[in-house]
Amino acid sequence: MKILLTGAGGQIGHDLIGALVAGGHEVTSTDLAPRPPSHAHAGGESWQRLDVTDGPATERMFEKVKPELVFHLAAILSARGEKDPKLAYDVNQTGTWNVLEACRKTAVKRLIFTSSIAVFGPPPSGPLPDPTPDDVALHPTTMYGVTKVAGELLCAYYTKKFDVDCRGVRFPGLISAAMPGGGSSDYALFMYVDGVRKGGYEAFARADTRIPLMYMPDGVRALLELSMADRSKLTRSIYNIAAFSPRADQIATSVQRVLPDAKFSYSPDPRRQAILDSWPKSLDDTAARNDWGWKPKYDLDGMSDDLIPRVRRMLELGAILSSH
Ligand code: SER
Repeated sequence: MKILLTGAGGQIGHDLIGALVAGGHEVTSTDLAPRPPSHAHAGGESWQRLDVTDGPATERMFEKVKPELVFHLAAILSARGEKDPKLAYDVNQTGTWNVLEACRKTAVKRLIFTSSIAVFGPPPSGPLPDPTPDDVALHPTTMYGVTKVAGELLCAYYTKKFDVDCRGVRFPGLISAAMPGGGSSDYALFMYVDGVRKGGYEAFARADTRIPLMYMPDGVRALLELSMADRSKLTRSIYNIAAFSPRADQIATSVQRVLPDAKFSYSPDPRRQAILDSWPKSLDDTAARNDWGWKPKYDLDGMSDDLIPRVRRMLELGAILSSH
């Protein structure tokens, strides 16, 4: 199948491209930035420059590639978006509009939208239910969350109005062997990366911080499974998906099972802590389980066992690449 990715240079793209190429698909990866050195994939994929904030360029790219399926990954994450809300608005809001319009105008059959736990925020009536279901009033506190809510609504609108079959997931904080990139959930990823390369990490979150998290292989599988699901089985456009929801100090304990000498401490950054505290502690993903058979494979310790050797290899490869 001909597949196009936006924002392919990010954390999800890194693993999704590999899975799509391995599945024999004809993949066009697009991003504003050149292909990162860590994104080396053996053939079967082309890398094209695309700025999704440029509507005509987006349409031209879709016209040229004629994808049957698009994964829209381009986004500025929550912490970086609070530093530059206009950039977050341009990329996340205008970019999503441009991608939807390009799909409509070039008759792309299916679009996968990547939403986030950042669509949630504490409602005025009290805390979010734990676990948080799909349908609660959405009160995001970040520009990233605001634009993801709008993207979800646009996704449903284009499906109904223009027959662009748009569907998506609300991702928990995703953890993989990649360098963190401007997210508030990055403290979890740093526990692994700095646990390996520095022997420890001072987290920018409190020890009792608890948000939904997921290991990337499960995240990629969710995207693939949802993209292949029969439309008639889907009762909604956007689905909560869940894996595990440990406290920050439980992640530390899980890392220490593999790296017993790693030391962790907590020095909360007020801005990022406030974002983390506004998110659900855990998600109810019953609809995804019922409609398209979603089920995570990795729990926290399963992720730690698999991830730590990968982080080691990533850092070794990075050191080799930077010495050339
Ligand atoms: N991981 C994202 C962030 O921290 C949330 O989707 O911004």
